[in-house]
Amino acid sequence: MNTVNYFNTTDDEIYQIAPKGDHALRQRFFIDILKELHQGGPAGKACVVTFGCQMNARDSEKLTGILQEIGYEDCRNEEDADFVIFNTCTVRENANEHLYGRLGRLKKLKAERPDMIIAVCGCMMQEKDEVDTLRKKYPFVDLIFGTHNLFTFPELIFALLRKRAGHIENIDGMAGEILTSSSDDALKHERLQRYGTTGKEKEFYKLYHKPVVSVWKDSSEIVEALPSKRKYSFKQGINIMFGCNNFCSYCIVPYVRGREKSRTPDEIYTEIRRAAEDGVKEIMLLGQNVNSYNGGIAFPDLLARIDILAVECGIERIRFMTSHPKDLSDELIQVMASGKRICKQFHLPLQSGSDSILKRMNRHYDSRSFIERAEKLKAAMPDISLSTDIIVGFPGETEEDFQATLEVIRKIRFDAAYTFIYSSREGTPAASYPHSVDETVIKDRFDRLLSVQNQISQENLGKNTGKIFPVLFETVSEYDKNKISGKLESGITVHVPGSEELIGSIHEVSLNCCHGFYYDGELID
Ligand code: 5AD
Ligand code: SF4
Repeated sequence: MNTVNYFNTTDDEIYQIAPKGDHALRQRFFIDILKELHQGGPAGKACVVTFGCQMNARDSEKLTGILQEIGYEDCRNEEDADFVIFNTCTVRENANEHLYGRLGRLKKLKAERPDMIIAVCGCMMQEKDEVDTLRKKYPFVDLIFGTHNLFTFPELIFALLRKRAGHIENIDGMAGEILTSSSDDALKHERLQRYGTTGKEKEFYKLYHKPVVSVWKDSSEIVEALPSKRKYSFKQGINIMFGCNNFCSYCIVPYVRGREKSRTPDEIYTEIRRAAEDGVKEIMLLGQNVNSYNGGIAFPDLLARIDILAVECGIERIRFMTSHPKDLSDELIQVMASGKRICKQFHLPLQSGSDSILKRMNRHYDSRSFIERAEKLKAAMPDISLSTDIIVGFPGETEEDFQATLEVIRKIRFDAAYTFIYSSREGTPAASYPHSVDETVIKDRFDRLLSVQNQISQENLGKNTGKIFPVLFETVSEYDKNKISGKLESGITVHVPGSEELIGSIHEVSLNCCHGFYYDGELID
C-alpha cells in the first residue's frame, strides 16, 4: 500500500493543499487521496447499518456512495466487514438502546481485529451526552460525526488513518461551529511527542486510542454533488428540504437536524432526471415537513412541476413524506388530485385526538380541523390511502384524552397507523411536563389502540380483494423465494408467484387474498 506520500508527512502539507471554501471539491480531494491509498484497488468490505426514518436511509446511500468510491465493497453483515458505520436515530429512547446493543456485539470482534474501523454518525451523535457515553463506554469506536457534517466523511476517514499512523489529526479547520470534537485534547499532543511518529504507532494506537470526533452544531449550507449509491435500483428518496422549525414539544428532531433548509428546484429536478436515466421508477420526496418547502416556490408548485417532469422522463410514481397537518393546503390537495404520477397516498400524523394534548404537543391544530383536512383529501380522491402516527402516553394523557384519539381513528378510518409509546427526550419541553402516565396504563391503551386500528386496516384492505391493481415489484419475498413482493400505489405489500426479472417493473396484479396487512396475488399481464 502506497501510504508514504500521505502518512510520512509530519507537517500538514495535505491540509495546506486541500481545496478550501468549496465543500464538495474539498471532499472529492480527500476521496481521491483515499482511493490512491488503495491504489484504486479494493479497500475491504464496508457495512452501512441504518436506523430510523427515510431521511436516514437516504443519508446512508450517501455514506455507501462515498465508501464505494474510495474502494470499499458493500457487505450486509457487520461481522464480515472491515468498516462498519452505524447511522443512528434518536427519535425515541429505544432507538438509542438499539445502537448500544449492536455496538456491544462488535466489541469482541474489534479486540480480535483492531484494524477494523467502527464509525457512528447520524441524529444520536448530535446529542453531546450520547457522544460522551460512546467515548467512555465504547472506546473502540473509531470515528464519530453528526448529521450536519455528514458530507465531511471522506476527510474524517483520512484524519482517522493519519491518526492511526501516529499523526495528530487535523479536523477542526473545516469550518462549521463545533458541538463536540476530539482534536481539543492537549494530552494527546503531549503523548504524540513522547511516542513519536515512527515504529511505535501501533503501541501508541493501542494505548491511547481515541476516536476522531467531529460533530457540528448546525450548518446553513446544503452540500450537493457528492457520491451516493442507491440501495434499490428502481426507487430513490430525493431530499427536498432538511431540518424542522416546528418544535412539537415531544420531538427531538429540530435539535438534532437543525432549522429548515430547502434545496433549489433545479437541484431537485437534476437529481430526478438523473435517477430516471438510471431506470428509477419511483421517487420519494423527503423532508421532515415537506409542506414548508421554500426553495423559491412552495411545495404544491414544486410537486406539480415534478409531476410534469416525471411524465417527461419516465418516473412512474411520486411519493412524499412527511406532511404536517397544519400546513396541508387546498392547493396541495388539488395538485395531488390532478397529478398524473403522484401516488394517492398521504401520511398525515395525528399524534393525538385530544385538543388539550394537541395544544400541549404544540401541534397548532385541533381534532376538528384535522378531521376536516382528512375529509377534504378523501372528497378530492375517494381512493386515497391515508396513514398516520399516534403517540400513546404523552404526559398528562387521561382516559378521556385517549378516548378522543380512538374517536378520531374511528372517524377517519386510516388504512395504517404507526403507533408509538411516548418517550421522554432530554432537552425537549415535554421532558419536564408533569404527570407521566403509568406504564401499565400506557400498555393497556397501546393494545386497545392497536386492536381498533387493526380491525379498521383489515376492513379497508379487504374491500379491494379480487380487484386488479398495478404493482411495482421490489424484492424476492422474505417468506417464500418463489414469490416476488411489490407495492401497490397505496404502499401496501403484495406477494406474487414469479421470478427476479420482475423486480423494478410494474405489472397488473389480481389481489386474490387479503391477509390483513398484505395481499397474495397473481400476475394478469
Ligand atoms: N416519543 C414517541 N414518539 C415520538 N415521535 C416523535 N417523537 C416521539 C417521542 N418523543 C413519533 C411521532 C412522529 C414519528 C416519526 O415518531 O409520532 O410522527
Ligand atoms: Fe430518527 Fe428523526 Fe433522525 Fe429520522 S430525523 S433518524 S426519525 S431522529
